[in-house]
Amino acid sequence: MTCRLSVNVNKIAVLRNSRGGQDPDVVAAAAACLDAGAHGITVHPRPDRRHIHAEDVRALARLTAQHGAEFNIEGNPFAPPRAGYPGLLPLCSELGPTQVTLVPDGDGQLTSDHGFDFGRDGERLLPLIAELKVAGCRVSLFVDAGNPLIERAADLGADRIELYTGPYAAAFAAGQAQRELPRLAETARRARDAGLAVNAGHDLSQLNLAAFLDAIPGVQEVSIGHALIGEALYAGLTATVGSYLRILAAHG
Ligand code: PXP
Repeated sequence: MTCRLSVNVNKIAVLRNSRGGQDPDVVAAAAACLDAGAHGITVHPRPDRRHIHAEDVRALARLTAQHGAEFNIEGNPFAPPRAGYPGLLPLCSELGPTQVTLVPDGDGQLTSDHGFDFGRDGERLLPLIAELKVAGCRVSLFVDAGNPLIERAADLGADRIELYTGPYAAAFAAGQAQRELPRLAETARRARDAGLAVNAGHDLSQLNLAAFLDAIPGVQEVSIGHALIGEALYAGLTATVGSYLRILAAHG
């Protein structure tokens, strides 16, 4: 099975928001990624509206539906609504994305930097996951490699986990990928044994993706934003998405 690529377009919104107005256009960029063969689009709306806005999420839901592509909405299910942000569950209930990836992030975080602690968050997650399933969404939970309670994700009703690959990317950059890969592989194995499918994301790039896929076979989907959009500044979105698809085809 070839791992699927979901392109995270948050960074396009960051660029647009830096100037106000509509350019660069998030929907046009997402369309270019899908036309280039990406399997899906990911967004991570945050209550502080620092990148993707709720209106973008609605427009991207229409785009992905037109393309028959997967739409993955990430976010913190516990963050309350705020002006301009309806809250993750209301947004997902309204739009019915293919997948919702729940992430325990906060306003103060530059980006997602840890997964769920099921001992602390499990009880609160249970009814929210049930609500998302009623809305027809596949549910994935963001987890760290080595999460000691990984099987709990299945008990809570989740379909998948998303392995947080930030520490792996940092280790890879330091020439020490082996520091992280065995823990990721073991966490993926335990998740599969519990009936969960495995996604992955954060700081994956054309440099570190192949080694990750070789060490953790059977990953269903990677969501990639920061590196891909940065690389596309040099090569263009179409060529860059093509490069990722070739890596996935060769190592999935
Ligand atoms: N997965 C999650 C849960 C994220 O929050 C992000 C960043 O929004 C990503 C994956 C993608 O990370 P990156 O932008 O580093 O590719």
